[in-house]
Amino acid sequence: MKTKRIGFATRLGAIAATVGSAVGLGNIWRFPYEAGQNGGGAFIIVYIACVALLGIPVMLSEFIIGRSTHSNMKGALRKLAPKSSIYLMAYVCIAGAVMVLGFYSVVCGWVVEYICQAVAGNLQGHQPQDYSVMFSDFVGSPVRMVLFTVVFLAINFAVLLKGVQKGIERMSSIMMPLLFLLLVVFCVNSLMLPDAHKGLAFLFKPDFGALTWRGVVDAFGQAFMSLSLGVACLVTYASYFNDDTSLTRDAVVIASLDTLVAILAGIVIFPAVFSFGMQPEAGPKLVFEVLPAVFQQMAGGYVWAILFFVLLFFASLTSTISLSEIFITFLIEERNFSRRKAIWITAAVVGSLAVLCALSFNVLKSVTVFGMSIFDLFNYLSSNVFMLLGGLFTALFVGWFLDRRVIVEQLTNRGRLNVPVMNYLMFCLRYVAPVAVVFIFMQLVGII
Ligand code: PFF
Repeated sequence: MKTKRIGFATRLGAIAATVGSAVGLGNIWRFPYEAGQNGGGAFIIVYIACVALLGIPVMLSEFIIGRSTHSNMKGALRKLAPKSSIYLMAYVCIAGAVMVLGFYSVVCGWVVEYICQAVAGNLQGHQPQDYSVMFSDFVGSPVRMVLFTVVFLAINFAVLLKGVQKGIERMSSIMMPLLFLLLVVFCVNSLMLPDAHKGLAFLFKPDFGALTWRGVVDAFGQAFMSLSLGVACLVTYASYFNDDTSLTRDAVVIASLDTLVAILAGIVIFPAVFSFGMQPEAGPKLVFEVLPAVFQQMAGGYVWAILFFVLLFFASLTSTISLSEIFITFLIEERNFSRRKAIWITAAVVGSLAVLCALSFNVLKSVTVFGMSIFDLFNYLSSNVFMLLGGLFTALFVGWFLDRRVIVEQLTNRGRLNVPVMNYLMFCLRYVAPVAVVFIFMQLVGII
């Protein structure tokens, strides 16, 4: 059974959904801890360079593939390169998406747990260090970890089953600006903390000595994760865009907003890290330890904490919905499954991986691959291997193989727009992307 493809009613709807996909835990949870582990300022410079040189060009490539074919990644590649087996690349993208969902939904589970803790008033009245213990106790409990992960996934798939994701996206177009405002308020608060200047220096004064080659690839991977690149998500979304949307303008707006949110999150976190004597390189637990300490010293901290985690929950949900849609659309359009069946299959696959990731903090702690826990492995592989390779492949495909006329047609909306960035785009896709691929490969196999 084929379901009818539904387009976005308005241009704003399409943009809101794409921003909804981009802005999520990647910005608020992952960016600060990655920056913290890789020395702060230098990481951020590499990150921003990567957004400009690779992120926006890859985003545009995905938009071009999606909107010119109105298909999912595999169908699109079949249409655009009918005689080649390039379409097989779609499987790498889909595997990447499923892998991201596996670990990402565990962190979404943490957000649900922290909403409950905030409502119960447990994020108040402690020493900053107590929040570290609270987090360790939580992740050490298999029951709580699995429970909250499953609760989150149940909500995610219930939204998809009921077909109310449009409603969620509409709600997010109110929630996202609110989250943004909230971050600005928290920034002001953090800037008034006693050791704020140390946090700002850490964030904005580059110390290239603290950045390793691995850190550079981490910055690339983080940019791709944050912009939702390399897993065919934006191909799927762009397949719903209408023909009047300016792809270039949208890509620049989305990438800028996304980067801004990540940097704001950094400005909230690092002044607090230094003022409360915490460790910037604490890793994935960083934000969950630091934020409660920030909230409790604010007037009305009880309400701020609830508001923040609820908004973060919605930001995460719009990201997981977009991630789930990749596999679901593929199953429907390429395997002819009904939507219901496709959703259940996706839920079963993702649910199993997520439970494994949740248990890797406790009962499966001793199981390691390449010295990493299952959660860390998924987290690392999805951004530093799958998303980067998926995204850079997309860049090479559009840069070197796709008929130039398709690119021009899509960027100019069939000659109706003037797009002065064509040369820049082609340079990045044709030359910067392959250099990045070689570099990433060298880092991966340990040559550098
Ligand atoms: N960009 C999202 C974030 O920063 O949280 C994560 C994500 C969503 C990655 C959708 C990939 C994707 F397809």
